Amino acid sequence: MGRYIPDQVIDEIAARADIVEVVQSYVPGLQHAGSRWKACCPFHQEKTPSFIVNPASNTFHCFGCGKGGNVFKFVMMIENLQFPDAAQMLARKYNVIIPEPEHRHFDKKEKEAAQAAYNLRERVFLLHEKLASWYRTNLVNGYAAKAAEYFKTRRMDPVFAERFMIGAAPDLWDGMIQWATREGFTIEEMKEARLVSESRQTPGKFFDFFRNRLIFPIWNEQGRVVGFSARQIDPAQGGGKYVNSSESVIFKKSRILYGLNFARQEIAKKGFAVICEGQMDVIAMHSAGCANAVAAQGTAFGNDQAMILHRYTENITLALDSDSAGVSAILKDAAILLPLGFNLKVARFPGGKDPDELLKNAGAEAVRKAIDDAEDFFAFLLAKESENQDLAQPAVKTKIAQKLLKFIMLPDSEVTRDSYIQWLAGKLSLHTDAMLAEVHRLSAKEAHRNRFQRETRGQEKNGEQSPKPEQLPESVANPILAKALAELLEVILSNEESADMVKADLPPEMLDNGPFAVAVETVIQARMNDEWADAPAMITRRLLECEFDCGPLSALLAAEPEKHSRSYCLKTVRDCLKRIRILFFEKQLADLKKNFSAMPRGPERDEVLKKTVELTRELNMLNHPQRRETAKPVKRYLLPEDSGGSIPGGNYE
Ligand code: UTP
Ligand code: MN
Repeated sequence: MGRYIPDQVIDEIAARADIVEVVQSYVPGLQHAGSRWKACCPFHQEKTPSFIVNPASNTFHCFGCGKGGNVFKFVMMIENLQFPDAAQMLARKYNVIIPEPEHRHFDKKEKEAAQAAYNLRERVFLLHEKLASWYRTNLVNGYAAKAAEYFKTRRMDPVFAERFMIGAAPDLWDGMIQWATREGFTIEEMKEARLVSESRQTPGKFFDFFRNRLIFPIWNEQGRVVGFSARQIDPAQGGGKYVNSSESVIFKKSRILYGLNFARQEIAKKGFAVICEGQMDVIAMHSAGCANAVAAQGTAFGNDQAMILHRYTENITLALDSDSAGVSAILKDAAILLPLGFNLKVARFPGGKDPDELLKNAGAEAVRKAIDDAEDFFAFLLAKESENQDLAQPAVKTKIAQKLLKFIMLPDSEVTRDSYIQWLAGKLSLHTDAMLAEVHRLSAKEAHRNRFQRETRGQEKNGEQSPKPEQLPESVANPILAKALAELLEVILSNEESADMVKADLPPEMLDNGPFAVAVETVIQARMNDEWADAPAMITRRLLECEFDCGPLSALLAAEPEKHSRSYCLKTVRDCLKRIRILFFEKQLADLKKNFSAMPRGPERDEVLKKTVELTRELNMLNHPQRRETAKPVKRYLLPEDSGGSIPGGNYE
């Protein structure tokens, strides 16, 4: 529902909003450059700044990606907001009052709806803000005795308990509902805020979502409370160790980094960010003087969070648990972060399983030391892979080289890749060239085997050949198909409905094991599992198994997703699907014909002929959907010139 803001109010906001200040609050690296300001662009990945802010015209422009506009446009893009919400946000920051919508612009019903939409988001924000204080009061004033008792055992520094507003939900069914009702909130607002659950037995009866737990408010980047994470205080309690807010109008998990509101300045100052596993670890880090620590919230670390951090720094230290789950999380995070150009370090916590335990067991100095001593990710990986291995054996060396190379190949920068290859060759006493050649061969073979294993569900035999060049998957060998898949992927990553269409209309046999085909398949799978938003992270992970050049694909994943209109998306999907079909049938037809000429007459040859006729008909239908096809075999299939531009020429780069 659109919301009307009078022009003079918009002018007032524009006049008061200082674009340098606004941009700087998201891009701390913004530097004075003559009469203008410069930084690396927050909307695409780059190493040298081409993002310019011009305070004289109150505009920004990136010479790298072409994005630009005024201060509203900047907030809309960076916060992913519609214009009225961006204006509202700036109005609040610069103390401009937006008047209520005027009656004459709406009939009564429209006005009510507009009013509701206008207010709801703000009401949900307000409820969260007040509730965080209420939870805090419960803990401090002893209204939640059991939680307070448990909290003591966590031995948290009181200054940081206050800063992070640690609170408690009382051991009651509807303590929060009663409080919120007294505060004037409706059950509808509580529902919208995802703070109540509805009784199954008695529909219409609600109870508190968080009960008898320690409460951690979750803030967004701008420091507004948007959700909660709640820790059990007794392992016998049901419902998991942590219960987290569900997504709501103000809470998108994949875009939240816990602690970022407190860490922003410090990340800029120290020049790196620390990523921890959970809230307790972030607070431990901050208490120990490492206020540049953040954590993903409730879900695994993903692409969106990486892109948010990318606006602040290119240097990350992973401070994850020391157990094996922690190690596999390190590898997963590396698979997301390295292609985006981050420099990665890994901190270890020998005195405890995580930063929080280390702080309790060994004190702040030990935590700081663990961060200071963090080692380069590749050195960490080499040490891990070399554990209990006899490096004198060539086979062992190859295996280790292979494992590391998978990660070394992830950064986009050739210089980075090259220097790590040389470093690794030195470490393993191998010639760079020989190592590269061997590892390329072997990694191709292994990826092929992995694929084969998946396909045959473990009925694999040893000793199959590595793929010969002529066996390159069609989506790699054929640039036109690669381009169609790349276009399709871009759209289904940005629009969920398009992903649905592809799920329904693209037969799996049309997707081979080239990177773009695998990526499209991954989005479809993610959509089927209702995890569409996680698809980019899942793709990044699967790329590790891919033996072909994934450069163009990582570039696409690293870019901030384009916002396309729905009609554009659906049209593009239809167009791409058609092109992919045509190419698939053409390839089949070509393969059949190759066999056909060499075949002796007989039933088998007749079968191939029949198939050829069918395929030709399919192709003609696809190219001329308006013509009713009469079954006449075409001697040689020619791509008609009037194919509606569905197969563009040109090369895919
Ligand atoms: P951990 O299990 O490592 O917990 O989960 P922790 O941070 O060490 O917490 P304590 O010290 O036992 O209290 C790390 C993070 O994963 C999320 C939470 O965000 C948690 O902080 N998590 C964990 C959940 O969302 N749900 C769970 O059931 C468990
Ligand atoms: Mn812990």
